[in-house]
Amino acid sequence: MPKITVDGREIEVAADTMLLPALIEAGIHVPHYCWHPKLSIDGSCRMCQVEVEGSPKLVIACNTPVRDGMVVRTDTPRVANARRGVMELLLVNHPIDCPICDKAGECLLQDYSYSFGTRFTRTEEPRRKLEKRKEIGPRMILDQERCILCRRCVRFCREITKTNELGVFNMGDRSVLDVLPDAPLANDYSMNTADICPVGALETKDFHHKLRVWFLKKTPSICPSCSNGCNITIQHYRNQIWRLMPRRNDAVNDTWMCDHGRLQYAFAHDTNRLRLPMVRRGEQLVASTWEDAVAEASRILRDGVKRSGPERVALLASPHLTNEELFRLAQLADVLQLRHVDTPVVVGQGDDFLIQPEKAANIAGARELGLVPRNGGRDAAGILELARQGSLDVLYVCGSDIARIFDEAVWKAALRAVPQLIVQDLFLEPIAALATVALPSLSWAEKTGTFTNRKRRVQQIHRALAPVEGQWSDGEIFTRMLAHLSEGRWEFEPAAVFEEITRKYPAYTGLSFAGLGLQGKTLAGAEV
Ligand code: FES
Repeated sequence: MPKITVDGREIEVAADTMLLPALIEAGIHVPHYCWHPKLSIDGSCRMCQVEVEGSPKLVIACNTPVRDGMVVRTDTPRVANARRGVMELLLVNHPIDCPICDKAGECLLQDYSYSFGTRFTRTEEPRRKLEKRKEIGPRMILDQERCILCRRCVRFCREITKTNELGVFNMGDRSVLDVLPDAPLANDYSMNTADICPVGALETKDFHHKLRVWFLKKTPSICPSCSNGCNITIQHYRNQIWRLMPRRNDAVNDTWMCDHGRLQYAFAHDTNRLRLPMVRRGEQLVASTWEDAVAEASRILRDGVKRSGPERVALLASPHLTNEELFRLAQLADVLQLRHVDTPVVVGQGDDFLIQPEKAANIAGARELGLVPRNGGRDAAGILELARQGSLDVLYVCGSDIARIFDEAVWKAALRAVPQLIVQDLFLEPIAALATVALPSLSWAEKTGTFTNRKRRVQQIHRALAPVEGQWSDGEIFTRMLAHLSEGRWEFEPAAVFEEITRKYPAYTGLSFAGLGLQGKTLAGAEV
């Protein structure tokens, strides 16, 4: 590995790399706008200039390869003067409308202005007037006055999505970022351009003027929308999610996520969520205590198996549950000796980048942990058919994916024909309203645990929103049912249950909940 000296300190850096990423990797901050770790080098902003011994001029660190023995200075008056000059140039026409800019608080122009700029302007001429709040796509707004022409967004559309919607038009001081009139920025990843915009030129409609970013709390998690398991940060304030942002994981999603996944979060704080357990009394579903509702559901399952055998009892698990919850649910199926077990998943469109056809984050985990037909048992379609024929006495449905997978006539006829229906879901409609016992579920944002993605990478999610006081998590529900239906002490604590999984499944051997860290770990034997 080459050794270089930076500001008098010798460091080892990776070979065949440019100076800027090497310095960043070594924890040495060099300001930069146009460079991005996942895009080609543009070298246009000139903010990353440093002194290199033997070079008569300052060089841009983002486009200077490291050499063994290189002597670099990032802290000289000459470098400071160059940064001040760049900042002055970038701010000559900038509107400085930070009080109404969504980026304020996380804007590199603002931050570098404080750190490296001057506190005054030397120009009196009016600033350039361009389009503000221009709708350039279904989810994106452009403010041309704020753009510093770093072209990160242009390269994103050229190199990552290969859709080429954005471009810099005109020349010199008339240069302007824009889209062609008949080609809006409408690709499935368009909102990433707002993330990589170092200023507030590109903003998402979804977050526009909603909240100042410094109020947001950030919780690392996984996108729940498909089986890719993109790493994200849930950004929340006052128990409400305000935005989902991608989190870097080079093994899963680099630094990107799709627009669809990014926009699927409002259900978590929907005020129509089912929050109280309900038990059917005649025609009516009436609110119940958690203890009574779970005892009633357990009694229905036990009596169903006792009366007519496990053949007439079936379980549909949810691919939105965590591995720890699914492990307990699989134990419940074991205790009841169920054969008709399955985890139905919505299948939709995918692409050759991040979007996967299976629209749930933990379908791989459900399969890994045995929530599949057992000993010749029926799959989801077969279970609904058994129900419709009157061959099931009890059906336990977790989640409402069947309402999106099967025709309404099919699932309704099946559920109506089952004498005892237990439903665990986020909402009363469409399925829990038909239940004998309805148990509220928690969303992914309200719990801690793990998901396994399509490449069998196990990744942590963390609680961002506090559930309603007293609400049991899905794992607690399954655990209490197990306590009703079997001997022994059952508890639900995600890290301890994960430990149980590692003892039971050889592929998990050597993993620990804490050891998964923020980037996750791939199961033994997985194709990477
Ligand atoms: Fe090096 Fe822009 S980051 S020139």
